[in-house]
Amino acid sequence: MYTQSELKQQVAQAAVDYVLPFLTPDSILGVGTGSTVDLFIDALAAHKHAFKAAASSSERSTARLQGLGIEVQDLNTIERMDWYVDGADEIDAALNMTKGGGGALTREKIVASVSDKFLCIVDDSKLVERLGAFPLPVEVIPMAKNAVARQLRALGGNPVERTGFVTDNGGLILDVSGLSIEDPAALEARINNMPGVVCCGLFAIAPASVALIAGQQGVRTLSGNGF
Ligand code: 5RP
Repeated sequence: MYTQSELKQQVAQAAVDYVLPFLTPDSILGVGTGSTVDLFIDALAAHKHAFKAAASSSERSTARLQGLGIEVQDLNTIERMDWYVDGADEIDAALNMTKGGGGALTREKIVASVSDKFLCIVDDSKLVERLGAFPLPVEVIPMAKNAVARQLRALGGNPVERTGFVTDNGGLILDVSGLSIEDPAALEARINNMPGVVCCGLFAIAPASVALIAGQQGVRTLSGNGF
């Protein structure tokens, strides 16, 4: 019986094996944030000469990448990337995700938006029938915290400020439990539209392209529309 951290290790290695054939010496690879991605970065380091540089979604990942000798390129210098690799807190069969458990959701969504394909790497505890058991992280501008919280309550949610946490962008995180997420893309658009919201942790308007899911029987691949 593999532990969750062993499954994360397996999916991290599987992700390196998955993206490696796509990499060329000119490639920029988008890199997410979290404990699964930390393992991915560690495994990627053995192949750092197979690609040019990474685009990073957090100070945490940047430090880890650079510490292993992988160049990190400013996103403003990058027009497009083929692949962005990141974990998730929940993912459904349509490859809609909830992200932001590590608080990096905004930069994750930005870097993912510059990539053609999103490879999601998770252990199978993250695969759900319907998103919503994991409280939805929402990054807010500090002065808008209470105004946004009231709007989230009006949607049936119970927002709780993540204590002692400031994002890489100087924002706060509201973790919202109790939401009924019937239509993830519609809810994502609705929350994104609230003044003061920087980013909502739903990744459904642009879901993952492919998910690698590690379980006791091995790592399986789920492909989204068009893949
Ligand atoms: C960080 C994220 C992470 O991808 C998500 O929280 C999963 O993390 P982990 O791999 O540690 O379980 O969205 O903002």
